[in-house]
Amino acid sequence: MRQFSRKIIDWQKHQGRNNLPWQRKSAYEVWISEVMLQQTQVTTVIPYYEKFIKTFPEIKILAQSSEEQVMSLWSGLGYYSRARNIHRTAKIILSKFKGEFPKDFKSLVELPGIGSSTAGAIMSLAFELPGVILDGNVKRVIVRFKGISNPIDSSKTQKELKSFAEELLPKNSFREYSQGIMDLGSMLCRPKNPVCGNCPISKNCKALELGIQEDIPFKKPPKAKKEREIDWLLISSKNKILLKRNGSKGIWKNLWLFPDKDILGKNNISLLEKKEALPKIIHNLSHQKLNISTVKYKIENKDRLKIDSSHSVWVSKEDSVKMGMPKPIKEIIANYL
Ligand code: ADE
Repeated sequence: MRQFSRKIIDWQKHQGRNNLPWQRKSAYEVWISEVMLQQTQVTTVIPYYEKFIKTFPEIKILAQSSEEQVMSLWSGLGYYSRARNIHRTAKIILSKFKGEFPKDFKSLVELPGIGSSTAGAIMSLAFELPGVILDGNVKRVIVRFKGISNPIDSSKTQKELKSFAEELLPKNSFREYSQGIMDLGSMLCRPKNPVCGNCPISKNCKALELGIQEDIPFKKPPKAKKEREIDWLLISSKNKILLKRNGSKGIWKNLWLFPDKDILGKNNISLLEKKEALPKIIHNLSHQKLNISTVKYKIENKDRLKIDSSHSVWVSKEDSVKMGMPKPIKEIIANYL
């Protein structure tokens, strides 16, 4: 099935995306972009990617930075273990591989945060070597082309996808092919309203032949998410606000949050002057739905509030930008301070 890859490569050159900021860049830049793109859309990733590369233009600078600095650049992007793994991998590449990315799949997948698809992306996009990318867009192209109507998440389908993806790989032009199959998935073979009329591989597409292109990939309905209530206190004193470092378990490990009422300990709540309740925020994570309520308080003299200072800080709005924090905190600070 060499025609498949040839048509995709040809289409990519003329119709695909050729001005994404991480294209035709080094393995370092390809790696950062691919990790960001693992769970986040291209348009959201671009500004984060540009700021990240500007701050850490090479892997050595990244490896020698603090985790806090890396987390602050990741603030708002979600799935924060990606940032911690990036920092760990940068240190490994510097110490074990003299700062150069290994050019083999086996060494790449052993690195923290690099799964087989990201390793395949680095192999093909950075090194022009055979490498299989299997992200959501590529999976959709293949299940439709092959007419696979079993649930996409089943291990049987995943195995089939892997073997088809390997089979469809060209003998050269690995970069254009990888980029092309991703572009095709995102631009034409879209989840809804696929543009089959413009598709270079529609002639042999099984799903189109059967008229089931809109019905696959078939996904089992997701389980209802657990809901959790969160009550934050946004306490300000003069131009500072109180932030508390989250624990190292569960969601938002070690990130900075507003405190909850436990911060008060033996302090009397009447020390705080209640200002207003902010609009509720619903924040969806992959397995949980968070219903967040935040109440704004003021205290004239912050030293009257006796708190454990080992895990909390008073910071100005400007300085808070340098701290690792999740999206709802970042947004509340931006919108209500
Ligand atoms: N999704 C994952 N990797 C990508 C890339 N290199 N370009 C566009 N979308 C992507």
